[in-house]
Amino acid sequence: MTLTTKFTEVFGVEHPIAQGGMQWVGRAELVAAVANAGGLGFITALTQPTPAELAREIGKTRELTDKPFGVNLTILPSINPPPYDEYRQVIVDEGIKIVETAGSNPAPHLPMFHDHGIKVLHKCTSVRHGVKAQSLGVDGISIDGFECAGHPGEDDVPGLVLIPAAAKQIEIPMIASGGFGDARGLVAALALGADGINMGTRFMCTVESCIHQNVKEAIVAGDERGTELIFRTLHNTARVASNVVSREVVEILKDGGQFEDVKDLVAGVRGRKVFDDGDLDAGIWSVGTVMGLIDDIPTCEELISRIVREAEDLITGRLGAMVTESTSAVGSS
Ligand SMILES: Cc1cc2nc3c(=O)[nH]c(=O)nc-3n(C[C@H](O)[C@H](O)[C@H](O)COP(=O)(O)O)c2cc1C
Repeated sequence: MTLTTKFTEVFGVEHPIAQGGMQWVGRAELVAAVANAGGLGFITALTQPTPAELAREIGKTRELTDKPFGVNLTILPSINPPPYDEYRQVIVDEGIKIVETAGSNPAPHLPMFHDHGIKVLHKCTSVRHGVKAQSLGVDGISIDGFECAGHPGEDDVPGLVLIPAAAKQIEIPMIASGGFGDARGLVAALALGADGINMGTRFMCTVESCIHQNVKEAIVAGDERGTELIFRTLHNTARVASNVVSREVVEILKDGGQFEDVKDLVAGVRGRKVFDDGDLDAGIWSVGTVMGLIDDIPTCEELISRIVREAEDLITGRLGAMVTESTSAVGSS
């Protein structure tokens, strides 16, 4: 048996499970492991310091898998923006066929991707942005609820409402993101109107993810309350692990501080030290509330096959068994 959805059909993958872009985490080994397990993995373009290094990372991924995989292009406003056009050119030149866009309007990038037969899965955090992206002609939507690691947006709408609200208006394939980690989540997402799920935190905590073992063990040990929302007052909210640094950032901003006052605390190099050296308090690092549902560090193959198998069992077993012939109603004769 297998789960076939609009998402698996349009994006040409076996299972309705994606591994979204993750800064410092979305590298060749993880992406190839997800692809080999029948999911859709995305290399994170901006983790590579130069477009040439992105080309090398794509080549490395191809050595590890012959299954489809994609590249995430996160477009964020920045004082010194990375050379997005050059990264985009590498994606095209390397023959990538699926791109995950995130961070802002994908419009400037769509013509070139579509001219080269590249399908675009746009990740966003609100119904209105999903509807807008659909009208621009993207091929799929990944809708990220308030539970998610990274940037949940400013609307604070969790998946239980966001997903069906989006499903009412999204006709192209749509996957649900934020807070997914197991078969129950996948079945719930399908029931809410999505065609699959996207996971970040759950894939961080796998054998093939390149981050330090201490971080994986902290995710296993952590619970659903183990995150902080930073940058709320700056209207650029990010969900990160609760640690001495993120709690200090929250306090400084709550007391009227500005970005300048926390700039050094939130520096990318510090966050990277967490993943490289396993020092959990070295800086801020993204993680989602789904941490509370993660109890192990499986391979991607074990994880994806377990989610799909248990989802099939749940649909045909426990849920299927609830649908019974109605017995004679009280009072009827
Ligand atoms: C460590 C980490 C880094 C992330 N970096 C990015 C990124 O660079 N670009 C992006 O679009 N999403 C990024 N995300 C968000 C994920 O792609 C995904 O949308 C999110 O993790 C889903 O929520 P979940 O963690 O509850 O599964 C990141 C997530 C994590 C955990």
